[in-house]
Amino acid sequence: MCGIFGYVGKRVDAGSLAIDGLKSLEYRGYDSWGVAYKTGGTLTMKKETGKISGVNPADFSAACSIAIGHTRWATHGGVTKENAHPHLNEASTIAVVHNGIIENYEELKEELKKKGHAFRSDTDTEVLPHLIEEELKHTKDFTTAVRTVCLRLKGRYAFLALHTESRTLVAARSGSPLIIGVDTDGYFIASDIPAFLAHTRTVQYLDDGEMIATDGKTVLFLDIETGHEVQKREIEITWSMKQAQKGTYRHFMLKEIMDQKDSIARAINQDEEEIRTIAQAIKHAQGTFLVGCGTAGKACVAAEYFFSVIAGHHVNYAPASEFKLFHHFLKPESLLIVVTQSGETADVLEAMKIAKAKGSKVLSIVNVQGSTVARESDYTLLINAGPERAVASTKALTGQMAVLLLIAYALADKLREGKLLLLETGEMINDMLNPRYVERLEALADGIKRHENLYIIGKSWNYPMALESAIKIQEVSYIHAEGFAGGELKHGPIALIEKGTPCIVLVGKDEVTADILSNAMELKARGAFIIGVSPERRDVFDEWIKVPEASTAQAIVNIIPIQILAYFLAVKRGKDPDMPRNLAKSVTVK
Ligand code: G6P
Repeated sequence: MCGIFGYVGKRVDAGSLAIDGLKSLEYRGYDSWGVAYKTGGTLTMKKETGKISGVNPADFSAACSIAIGHTRWATHGGVTKENAHPHLNEASTIAVVHNGIIENYEELKEELKKKGHAFRSDTDTEVLPHLIEEELKHTKDFTTAVRTVCLRLKGRYAFLALHTESRTLVAARSGSPLIIGVDTDGYFIASDIPAFLAHTRTVQYLDDGEMIATDGKTVLFLDIETGHEVQKREIEITWSMKQAQKGTYRHFMLKEIMDQKDSIARAINQDEEEIRTIAQAIKHAQGTFLVGCGTAGKACVAAEYFFSVIAGHHVNYAPASEFKLFHHFLKPESLLIVVTQSGETADVLEAMKIAKAKGSKVLSIVNVQGSTVARESDYTLLINAGPERAVASTKALTGQMAVLLLIAYALADKLREGKLLLLETGEMINDMLNPRYVERLEALADGIKRHENLYIIGKSWNYPMALESAIKIQEVSYIHAEGFAGGELKHGPIALIEKGTPCIVLVGKDEVTADILSNAMELKARGAFIIGVSPERRDVFDEWIKVPEASTAQAIVNIIPIQILAYFLAVKRGKDPDMPRNLAKSVTVK
């Protein structure tokens, strides 16, 4: 989704900082970009559709110490230069960038038009600089003017406004994230940490209903409603710049797949007492619900199997966007487990709100330290995967599954056994991810890249991995891929199989092995080309992708070759796996 960047301080390269900052936010997904900065007494603005990757920061090196920038993922109004942010007031003294939606913008726009304001775009955002300009007729203080405007807005948003006359940045948050980076000689404001990670790791979080004002020397946090000052802690982020970079890899997706050589061990490096406490909370909860979106949701489905098979415990999953309809079952004694990489997904935050309104406790399994979900949960377990920048989630998924599996073992009073198994799994993944293995999958991708349909089946915890495999392949290669529970084949999907249709079969060594192999036979009998992901070679396979035998952690191991296959399918089809069309890394609107 949209990305926000801002800087004010002593540095005189704010324009180039904004370009670099926006480049670090590219992974969020966007279709146009723009920057505004003050050079001398004037405001300079540049907006473009398309990508910012080829833009040279040196072209924006005019001396300036205050700048804002934005990457836009279109919602209100098409992908045009005019609709790209920043948006200006009549006098071009106020520039605004904005994420989210101002729901009452039409009515505000009408009111402004009657007062003589002219609009250049179709966006909801453009009302903001004009409204602030109107308010400045009643007050000289820019912060007060912005606060008064905020009180009139409806919707979930985060915006950042630059005022040339007072050389101030003011930002406000109601639903979409904003983070302040505190540097020795200035302040950064961004929608996401990587935007300023090259400059500082000291951050302050803006909560919903709060705003900040900074002139680069100090920063003031205010409650929007009351106007009272709010005290904020500074937090040190553990992520390093190196972790956030591609290094020698061509794409973030491949780099993050390879990070799984050691990310499982980091995910399960949890305080054992805390895991036991959480397991007790699940044991005694009157109803445990799991929610997540996209790939994180597939970790939740896998957890249903982990909790059932390992601990004999029933939990309920719903996609976060569907959770609203289950609120009747929540009690103060219920527990909601929220699984999310970013900790900022709008539907997930909404589900948390619903659970909290019922007095239920919330446990979150999150990657981003200090994210809204992490801060607002009763218990938080960080998966410590490091920054995940490719839109297609890989290492976050396996980290989430590892933590959920560990909890399932703790619930069965076998925490140590679970930890050992996961440590061994991490080592097996490290061995598996060798250059020859990756090359084999590249060759397989080459062989099947021209197919337009691909199906994946699995049983037990390999069923959610079949669903996840389909997401991975669809989102980066645009091949139509679908995942099914093996037993469901005969109830419809088998009608789609033609001679040569590639079908991936996810296999383990467990009580369902015979069943899934017979499902594979059914596919083969209809002419399917069977790609088996399995610890053992089986006759039914036309291609065998060997994976280590990992007992109850088999699902974690099985998904990894599919991630690599999806990556190469994208590359071989000439697609950029890091920038899938129409998708965003962090979905902060409902
Ligand atoms: C987007 C991303 C997915 C991710 C999902 C949930 O759709 O493209 O990769 O799984 O959001 O995001 P979260 O940050 O909550 O895990």
